[in-house]
Amino acid sequence: MAHPQKHPQQARPPLVSTSASHTARLRLIDPGQPPSKSPEHLALQAGLLAPAAHVDPKYLYDALGSTLFSAITLLPEYYPTRCEAEILAEQSQAIAARTGPVRTLIDLGAGDCAKAEKLLPALQPQCYMPVDISTDYLRQAVQRLTRSHPDLEIVPIEQDFSGGLRLPAFTAPQDRLVFFPGSSIGNLDRQRALALLRSMAQLGAQALIGVDRIKPRDILEQAYDDALHLTAAFNLNLLRHVNQILQSNFDARDWEHLARYDAAKQRVEMHLRAVREVQVQWPGERRQFQPDETIHTESSYKYSTEDFQALLHEAGFSEVQHWSDARDWFTVYHARV
Ligand code: AVI
Repeated sequence: MAHPQKHPQQARPPLVSTSASHTARLRLIDPGQPPSKSPEHLALQAGLLAPAAHVDPKYLYDALGSTLFSAITLLPEYYPTRCEAEILAEQSQAIAARTGPVRTLIDLGAGDCAKAEKLLPALQPQCYMPVDISTDYLRQAVQRLTRSHPDLEIVPIEQDFSGGLRLPAFTAPQDRLVFFPGSSIGNLDRQRALALLRSMAQLGAQALIGVDRIKPRDILEQAYDDALHLTAAFNLNLLRHVNQILQSNFDARDWEHLARYDAAKQRVEMHLRAVREVQVQWPGERRQFQPDETIHTESSYKYSTEDFQALLHEAGFSEVQHWSDARDWFTVYHARV
């Protein structure tokens, strides 16, 4: 989010475990008994076994996936990052005039903190709280910011907030601005987007949110299916990540990337399509996919300014102002509770 919903790599359950004293007492796990599974593991498995298979988009973001996403943001076809940067650069003073003094800037899905860093001169917060699940990115970024902004108090939080925001008690809500850039809100369906906006409204009195807009199909589909096939690699890499977690045997060569805009649902969908009949198995389960059957891996919702303002109001924000880029392709909203 910003690498929105990244997932830590989970250790494979060992097939053979040794006792704590490192003696030769080995315990063989019966291959007929699958290892006990975490709720997250069970949810991933349930999605793969569903008639219309699906995997949570957070599994796009292992170390390689996060690096591929950073590369995608440099592609000519992937306009959102550049459009948002244009708005934040050109409107930073207008945004600061709107926010007034900000004591604490909370940056959701901070990634390398680069977007928030550009806002620091205009907003001049005393405290910066980047929140991200990708700890490597966050640690490096915090080290860099500590050197470049020695007077700024930096409180990094390592958290996957896709299931809800839980931040430590600190400064009063009226002193906090919650920053959620990159249209990461678009990777949540309407209900989950509303739930996250509601928790943002409780966390801080103000929010600054970047959101991608509805636009012609060809522009949207090229942004998610680029000529260099980086987005295809990003999507296919999810299978490697799933293999690590489930100990499954997906082979990326059996699948192809698919990106299509569903105008009725106002979202770009990414799928992986089986190019032949595929048998996938993992401890305790198996699934057969027919040729052309797909796994839905991501939705990226696009909003008109009217729709997103309505969502902000429904979430408990009252005063809303927004700024767009020169082509009206992307919008940054400031909202106050
Ligand atoms: C992170 N997120 C807002 C990106 C998007 O546009 O939905 C992820 C992405 N998927 C494919 N390309 C980029």
